[in-house]
Amino acid sequence: MSIISKDIQKAVKLLTNEQLVAIPTETVYGLAGNIFSEKAIKSIFSTKKRPFFNPLIVHISGVEKLENIVTHIPEKAKLLADAFWPGSMTLVLKKSEKIPDLITAGKDTVAVRIPNHPVTLELLRQLPFPLAAPSANPFGSISPTKPAHVERYFKNDIQQVLDGGSCENGIESTIIGFENEEPIIYRLGALALEDIEAVVGKITIKNKKEQSPDAPGMLARHYAPSTKTFLVDNVAHEIKNHPNKKIGILVFKDSLKDKNLTEIILSENGLMHEAASKLYNSLHELDSLKLDVIIAERFPDNGLGKSINDRLQRATFSA
Ligand code: TXA
Ligand code: MG
Repeated sequence: MSIISKDIQKAVKLLTNEQLVAIPTETVYGLAGNIFSEKAIKSIFSTKKRPFFNPLIVHISGVEKLENIVTHIPEKAKLLADAFWPGSMTLVLKKSEKIPDLITAGKDTVAVRIPNHPVTLELLRQLPFPLAAPSANPFGSISPTKPAHVERYFKNDIQQVLDGGSCENGIESTIIGFENEEPIIYRLGALALEDIEAVVGKITIKNKKEQSPDAPGMLARHYAPSTKTFLVDNVAHEIKNHPNKKIGILVFKDSLKDKNLTEIILSENGLMHEAASKLYNSLHELDSLKLDVIIAERFPDNGLGKSINDRLQRATFSA
């Protein structure tokens, strides 16, 4: 029997009983548990096979919930929250002592976000506690953007994927922390950099492992298909390096028009948002075809293209 269901009351019951439920958000599906249940939080880590040093994002239904979670909100964090919540932005702020160390991996900061999905907002309003939710994929593998992706990963581990359809934005939230009251981007994500800078001005990006050993999710290899994947500027050129191989191609907007290849075009109209929303599903599809290699085309380095390139880079072995 399928574990995918739209029943919010069932999710409320499971979560109240310290069980995990996969929840829809506008970015990717999350593997959610009660932040105050040690049992639930431990099982998030064990189900994902995620190391304990990698902290979790706390999901809340509204800004009024922040006061129980953080102790200080910088001015620019307020501007960002006004501009982008509910939405695909996670803020890293000084944590309240009520937040268990297991959530934050012992740090003095906590990552928090108000997701913009009607089903999960309704669920959060019905629960007397916030939800910790990392992306609902085994550690290191491709994030899920459809209920079926989660079911494939975790059907033997959890009792419900709360069905909210396909994720509209399709890549994870943009993570923003603060150093001396100034915002720093720790993870590029579903918000375009330009849109963030329109609110708080020029912003520093520290999303490389060397730069931010503190954001452990920034591992060089992450979000990865099991098929060997390459990220290149010129796909036609790279194909020549793989003679007699079964090749899958992932391109932005222009077809290579080669019938011998399995090809996915992310947005024929060249829309970055459409491309982002289809990115992980396309990787899931190509990865299921038992190909020898996947060759992905690098995106223009602006807008959401920057975030898409970040994810593709981490999905690949080579530069
Ligand atoms: O869109 C999203 O953010 C999704 C949905 C489900 O909300 N969640 C998600 O969670 O992507 P996860 O666990 O896959 O990624 C969370 C990232 C990790 O890279 C983690 O290291 C970072 O957030 N993080 C969490 N708490 C942090 C903190 N206190 N300081 C710095 N980084 C933190
Ligand atoms: Mg993740």
